[in-house]
Amino acid sequence: MTRIAVIVGSTRIHRAGPSVAEWTVETARKVAPEGVEVELVDVAAFGLPVLDEPAPAMAGAVAHDHTKQWGEVIGSFDGFVFVTPEYNHGVPGPLKNAIDYLFYEWNDKAAGFVSYGANGGAGRRTAAPGRRRAQAGRCARPGGTQRLH
Ligand SMILES: Cc1cc2nc3c(=O)[nH]c(=O)nc-3n(C[C@H](O)[C@H](O)[C@H](O)COP(=O)(O)O)c2cc1C
Repeated sequence: MTRIAVIVGSTRIHRAGPSVAEWTVETARKVAPEGVEVELVDVAAFGLPVLDEPAPAMAGAVAHDHTKQWGEVIGSFDGFVFVTPEYNHGVPGPLKNAIDYLFYEWNDKAAGFVSYGANGGAGRRTAAPGRRRAQAGRCARPGGTQRLH
């Protein structure tokens, strides 16, 4: 079984992120081959503080339970679709923060992006930096992007 996480990257109240992510999950399930499971993962559900681990993730020395919980969930997936709005021409801080918490859990896994924004910037300014973040976490193929306006 191959497991794909559709990750909701915005965390504020009254956000559009969950609706976009649910659409992404439904769409992905329609086209997923047999043996591929698609699940929604909401960064907001983990209540991650601004990164507070004493050591960088690549050191492999996790101190906090919230990091362990986030890491167990992300580590259980084989690939990711990051659903991200554009905030000030980039990805939301909480999504960047959630990526920074982990390292090995992202390694050698495929990643794609669904981006959206209110001001026509969806995709260009979120997926490109998002891909760089994913590459820094050594995602194997930080490639495909779907832009929504
Ligand atoms: C802090 C902040 C910064 C934003 N900056 C941009 C931007 O640079 N370009 C854009 O197209 N939309 C921008 N928007 C609009 C959001 O992309 C849009 O409202 C989106 O629906 C927010 O996603 P969310 O509801 O999941 O938080 C911004 C919104 C917020 C809250």
